[in-house]
Amino acid sequence: MIQTMTRTPVNVTVTGAAGQIGYALLFRIASGQLLGADVPVRLRLLEIPQAVKAAEGTAMELDDCAFPLLAGVDIFDDATKAFDGANVALLVGARPRTKGMERGDLLEANGGIFKPQGEAINAGAADDIKVLVVGNPANTNSLIAQQHAPDVPAERFTAMTRLDHNRALAQLAKKTGVSVADIKKLTIWGNHSATQYPDIFHAEIAGKNAAEVVNDQQWLADDFIPTVAKRGAAIIEARGASSAASAASAAIDHVHTWVNGTAEGDWTSMAVVSDGSYGVPEGLISSFPVTTKDGKWEIVQGLEVNEFSRTRIDASVAELSEERDAVRKLGLI
Ligand code: NAD
Ligand code: LMR
Repeated sequence: MIQTMTRTPVNVTVTGAAGQIGYALLFRIASGQLLGADVPVRLRLLEIPQAVKAAEGTAMELDDCAFPLLAGVDIFDDATKAFDGANVALLVGARPRTKGMERGDLLEANGGIFKPQGEAINAGAADDIKVLVVGNPANTNSLIAQQHAPDVPAERFTAMTRLDHNRALAQLAKKTGVSVADIKKLTIWGNHSATQYPDIFHAEIAGKNAAEVVNDQQWLADDFIPTVAKRGAAIIEARGASSAASAASAAIDHVHTWVNGTAEGDWTSMAVVSDGSYGVPEGLISSFPVTTKDGKWEIVQGLEVNEFSRTRIDASVAELSEERDAVRKLGLI
């Protein structure tokens, strides 16, 4: 019997497809790891004209993998065309920072990319569009795109802090000698930047409170938090280039969890539009503890925030407010 695809392919638009994250991401999407092992996908790749040829090379390699779930690859240098009919959009294309740069330095350089992309999503994306912004400064770029897509529900625009979440899981697992799978309810709050706050006060390790298991406030303040928050810079220092495979892996995790749901008794970290929860000003795209179900996310409510956490959440959120002011001044929102 000849087997054919019975489900309509999901259109996944990826920007910056010829970049280093793109190269680590596309093959995993095409193999079914983004949406599920039974979900066919059609890739729509967006690049700047100078990088289209390199994207074509990647498309040739995608062909050569003969992925059964890959229904096709189209390459564009025009955002309106690339986002037409998109069900999932991964906005990766942006300049990465290099040694010595802070993410804030990228605001102007990269912010300009996200206004036309938001407009293009507004113009032609599918009704169920879900957007993940990876390109830095991710939270504020997501805000820019969202502000230029008034017809798309704001909650469909998210930014990636899953890499920070995964980094925190790995550090905590190492410290306590457990498997990452034993850790639940960890949270990244705020901005995907050095001000982010990885919070273990509500986390559980094999059912026990993580902060109590660790019982080492100095490690928490002087080791764990800065190691997680500055990991991006440490990778740049070590590799001479910003994280790529781990960023691609986190993007896969983010969308997979959004579409397929969080496990019972656990949550994840996603930067989503604030409804004012936990004192985060409404409208900012800030990282929260989030559960997902049926393709929708919800901010976990009712967590007690201690003094230690409050100061750190407030500092990161203040930075997000400053970034919003800065892009306002630049006329990007
Ligand atoms: P890269 O330079 O290797 O690739 C970027 C690609 O984007 C290039 O191919 C470039 O041609 C393309 N591009 C530039 N402008 C574009 C536009 N307007 N439309 C479409 N494509 C465009 O960079 P990379 O290492 O893949 O990183 C991409 C971005 O992701 C950077 O901003 C980086 O800082 C960010 N990043 C975010 C996280 C996170 O956790 N949120 C983690 C790692 C990297
Ligand atoms: C990361 O966290 O690895 C990326 O956002 C790259 C960077 O600039 O830190």
